[in-house]
Formats: sequence, structure tokens, C-alpha cells
Amino acid sequence: MFSVENKDTTRPYAASESRAEKLCITTEQIEKIVSGFYEKVQQDEILGPIFEKEMTEDWDHHLMKMNSFWATVMFGQGSYKGNPLQVHGKIQQLTKAHFDHWLCLFESTLKEVCTNSEQVEDFLSRARRMAVVLNAGRN
Ligand code: HEM
Repeated sequence: MFSVENKDTTRPYAASESRAEKLCITTEQIEKIVSGFYEKVQQDEILGPIFEKEMTEDWDHHLMKMNSFWATVMFGQGSYKGNPLQVHGKIQQLTKAHFDHWLCLFESTLKEVCTNSEQVEDFLSRARRMAVVLNAGRN
């Protein structure tokens, strides 16, 4: 028999450490990624006009929402509550090429902000999986 003991008495009920925490990903880093990425998006001639047309909130609110989205995704807990599938399903003109381009911009932002390739890969693999789901959910 073995017993499961939690030796960390300062956080007796804390969930086990997420992969993001092991990779030393921080909320400050997430904020840099989000602001850097959406700066590129706003200047991008393909994605910029789509956001301009489809956004139902101002950029400040969108960035705050995306900070909380990524913190929730990366740390497995957080305040984001939303329905990305429904939101993207309403944007009629999206194609797989848009998602591929989104991922390119996201990857180049990650390479600017992250401190190592494992962090880049962790963010990117999650973004890729979500892009597949959002693209498949458009119909
Ligand atoms: C083709 C690429 C994409 C475009 C053009 C796009 C566009 C948009 C737009 C215009 C909004 C704001 C909608 C509103 O204000 O009502 C939005 C929200 C959002 N997007 Fe995207 N998006 C794309 C890809 C992605 C991907 C790959 C992810 C995830 C990795 C993502 C995650 C989100 C989330 C979490 C929201 C907030 C949804 C909510 O209101 O709860 N997007 N997107």
C-alpha cells in the first residue's frame, strides 16, 4: 500500500503544478504575448480588417479577455468564461488559410517573447489544436 501525501502544507489543496508553471510561463509573459500578437493583428492586411469588422468590444476589453483566456488555458484555471466556438462560427468569411496565417503571426510573437523553444512549443501546440477545433466548428 502507498499513501498519497501532500507535503506542501502552505498550499494543502492546490492543484498539481501545470506544465506551463513547470516551464516558468508567467502571467506577465502572457500579457506581453497577447499585446504583441494583437498589435501585429491590427496592422495585418488580412486579419486586421476582419477584426475591425467583427469585433463587438473595444481593443482594451478584447486584450483583457484574451489575457484571461490564455491564463485559463495555460494554467488550467482562471476567470475566462466564454464560447470561442460560437464566436468564430459567426464570422462567415473565415477559411483554413486565415487560421494558418493567424498561427504564423502567433508563432512569430511567441519567438519574440518566450525565453526558450519549449515555451514556444507549449503555447503553439495549444493554439494549433484550438485552430483545428474552431476551423472545424465553422459549418
Ligand atoms: C482565423 C483566425 C481568427 C480570427 C479572424 C479571429 C477573430 C476573432 C474576433 C473578431 C473575435 C472577437 C469577437 C467579438 O468581439 O465578438 C475573436 C475572439 C476570440 N478569439 Fe479569435 N480569431 C481567430 C482565431 C482564433 C484562435 C486560433 C483562437 C484560439 C487559439 C482564438 C481565440 C479567441 C477567443 C478566446 C476569443 C474571445 C471569445 C469570447 O468572446 O469569449 N481566435 N476572434
